[in-house]
Amino acid sequence: MKWDIENKILIPFMILIILPILIIGIVSYWNGYQLLLNNKIKEVENNLHEDMLLIDKINEDARKNDILIDLAKDKAINYFIDLNKAGIIILQNNEVILNNLDDNEAFAKSLFNKAIKSKKETYINDDVLFIYKTYDKWNWKIGYGLYKNIFTNELVEFQKNTILIAIIFLVFSMQATIFISHNLSRPIKKLAEICNKIGKGNLKEKINIDREDEIGILADAFNNMVRKLEKNTKKLLEMKKFNEDILRSISIGIMTMDKKGRILSINQAGERLLKYSTNSREQREAFRKKIMDQLTETLFNEESKNEILVLNKMEDGNKLYFDVTTSLLRNKNKKINGAICSFSDITKRKRIENNIERINRLTSVGQLAAGLAHEIRNPLAGMKMSIQVLKSRLCKQNDKSNLNLFNGTLYEIDRLNNLITELLDFAKPHQPKYEMTNILEILNKSLELTKKDINEKDIKTNIHVETHNISIFVDKAQIEQVFINIIRNAVNAMNIKGVLNITINTTIREKINFLRIIFHDNGCGIKQENIDKIFNPFFTTDPQGTGLGLSVVHKLVIENNGEIEVQSVVGKGTKFIIKFPIFGGELSEEKNINN
Ligand SMILES: Nc1ncnc2c1ncn2[C@@H]1O[C@H](COP(=O)(O)OP(=O)(O)O)[C@@H](O)[C@H]1O
Ligand SMILES: [Mg+2]
Repeated sequence: MKWDIENKILIPFMILIILPILIIGIVSYWNGYQLLLNNKIKEVENNLHEDMLLIDKINEDARKNDILIDLAKDKAINYFIDLNKAGIIILQNNEVILNNLDDNEAFAKSLFNKAIKSKKETYINDDVLFIYKTYDKWNWKIGYGLYKNIFTNELVEFQKNTILIAIIFLVFSMQATIFISHNLSRPIKKLAEICNKIGKGNLKEKINIDREDEIGILADAFNNMVRKLEKNTKKLLEMKKFNEDILRSISIGIMTMDKKGRILSINQAGERLLKYSTNSREQREAFRKKIMDQLTETLFNEESKNEILVLNKMEDGNKLYFDVTTSLLRNKNKKINGAICSFSDITKRKRIENNIERINRLTSVGQLAAGLAHEIRNPLAGMKMSIQVLKSRLCKQNDKSNLNLFNGTLYEIDRLNNLITELLDFAKPHQPKYEMTNILEILNKSLELTKKDINEKDIKTNIHVETHNISIFVDKAQIEQVFINIIRNAVNAMNIKGVLNITINTTIREKINFLRIIFHDNGCGIKQENIDKIFNPFFTTDPQGTGLGLSVVHKLVIENNGEIEVQSVVGKGTKFIIKFPIFGGELSEEKNINN
């Protein structure tokens, strides 16, 4: 059994109080008893002594007066009977002749026997006190027997007050003990109870003990401690919340792993990136696996690692780039606790980098082209003229095979000339002339100029205008060139039949309004591996193409503060999305001035 604090105080106190009282009571009772016993023995001995003297006197009288001894004995007996002496027993020759103790004669006799056997004239057993003397002249044994309970009652009567006082004292001291133990244990119990509550996290608890003693001091100290604890816990919680807020608010995904390779935590941005980065489940799983692998590798090799991860966003071939950095997670003492991974979507940055790279490439290509074009153009003009002269001199009307050769050469010279013109166009540093331009007007003009190509095949063009705001601040001629190049590519991508949908609408990104022109054809589409290359100069899949169309498009769109994006599914079609900021006027003007 487990004793609570109250019992631990109460029970020893009770024992300490009851035991001495009991011991004192018993000792004093015992002493009283012994005293009474000794008094009784003395009293009986005196009685016996007096009786012996009396018998001896009767015997002497009888001897002097010549009275028969038997008469003398009768006289003595009658005398004792008259006196009605309590407890007296007289034995003559082992015969009971007077018995004032008990009706049972055998018992009276046995008392003598037991006394004689013990060889003492005083015999005491549990029930009786017995004293006897022998009067040899008459062959008498005179004894007194006393039942002990008679004087026990006497003793109780005598010690009544003492017992009463003891009981009162006992009750009082027990009450006092209960009171003291309760008084001592109550605040301690309260302390324990509140400790328990605090342990469960309830720091609002307070101990209300108004005492001046050590328990009061303890309660005050405890209350102070709890207040401090509450304050510190609050601070700690605020800090934790702040850290969590940071982790939640940053756009970088953060994942932590313990030493055994188990994921410990991942912040919201991390979850979002892992879940919604791509539409394809396999890609997402590959992404997660890549992060886990890199974390494990960092843990294993104990070194940080930085890698760029490329994912395909959708079937349209657009790529997503992730910067994945893993490093070791160490505590204050530099002990390794696991690994941490930060990963962020750097697709936008990558796109800008690609644009810059492309522009750089375009610039160098442009410079090269400009240099070469002049060198090639003049000899080419000379060659063309010479061939034409040769053709008119050497070829007769029916000389078909020679005619074909000359025509073929002239065609190729023209093609080379076109390429050079296009190259020069491309390389020429154009000074854009920005003005408020109605995009629909340019689009219609571009369609008009490409009408011949469109009509050669059975192609339907639809224009959907979904906004009123169709004016932007751009260079008319350049945007016209952009549209023409895109429409021509769409036509080239289609078989004999097809539809080209052109949508004009607006979109908002980072609080900036953009006008969006979407060219959506249902042509052959672009293979995924080519998506990244189509804006590169000289990339073409068309045997008749120059591979310069889209590089020019890209260059011009960027020059007009726009953006271009492509989405394509092989066999289904391609979407070119061009965006221009609607309130980009000031920016463009600035750029214009700078240029
Ligand atoms: N709408 C489109 N559909 C399919 N492929 C396209 C489309 N537009 C461009 N392309 C691909 O991009 C390549 C580059 O185009 P471009 O720079 O205009 O050069 P070119 O037209 O001379 O080939 C094309 O050869 C073609 O493979
Ligand atoms: Mg083209």
